[in-house]
Amino acid sequence: MKIYIDSSDIKEIKEINKTQLVDGITTNPSLIAKQNKDIKVILKEICKEIKGPVSAEVTATQAKQMIEEAKVLQKISKNIVIKLPLTFEGLKACSHLTKKGYKTNVTLCFSVTQALLAAKAGATYISPFVGRLDDIGESGIELIKDIRKVFDNYKDLKTKILSASVRNAEHVKEVAKAGSDIATIPPKVFHELYKHDLTDKGLKIFLEDWNKTNQKIS
Ligand code: G3P
Repeated sequence: MKIYIDSSDIKEIKEINKTQLVDGITTNPSLIAKQNKDIKVILKEICKEIKGPVSAEVTATQAKQMIEEAKVLQKISKNIVIKLPLTFEGLKACSHLTKKGYKTNVTLCFSVTQALLAAKAGATYISPFVGRLDDIGESGIELIKDIRKVFDNYKDLKTKILSASVRNAEHVKEVAKAGSDIATIPPKVFHELYKHDLTDKGLKIFLEDWNKTNQKIS
C-alpha cells in the first residue's frame, strides 16, 4: 500500500520525507487554510520536496470554474493532481479533465455508488473518508472493503482507492487489510505507525547491556 501524507505543512512533510517512505501528498482547503500562506506558494514548496502525486483541491462549485481552477493549479507543477468534490458538478469536471489528460482525485466520497460514478468519470483516485463515516456511527472500513469488491468486479475501472480521513494506526492496518491502494495519513498518525512499547523496552535493555562492555563501534 502506498503512503501519502495528508498535510500542507512543509516542515512536517520534509521531516517525514527523510524516511523516503512518502509516496505522495494530499491537501484540502482546510489544511491549506491552517498555513496562513498563499496556496500556490504552499503547493510549490511541497512539489519541490515530493516528486510523487500532490493533490490540490479546487474551491469552485460549478464545473466550468472548477476546470478553470484546475488549469491554474496544474501550472504549479506537473505532479499536481486535481482534487474535485464528489458532486454532480465535480463529476462533470472529472470527465472533462480526464479527457484532457489531467490526473484527478475525487474527494468526499461516502458511498459505493459515489465511488462507482467517479471511477466511470475516469478519476485517477477516489478518496473515501473513513473517519468521518465512523463519526456518524457507520463503518468507514466496510466502505473501503465494498469499493474494493466492486472495483475488482470490473477490471476496466482503473481508479485507485485512496483511503482518507484516516485517524489512527488501526485505520491504517484495516484499510491495508481491505486492499486500499493508498492511505493518506496525517503526520501525527504516521508517527504512531512505527512506535511500539516493546521496541522501546527492548532497545533500552540492548543499550544497557552494550554499555557494560565499554566497547565502541568505530
Ligand atoms: O483527506 C481528508 C482528510 O483530510 C479529512 O480528514 O480527519 O478531517 O476527517 P478528517
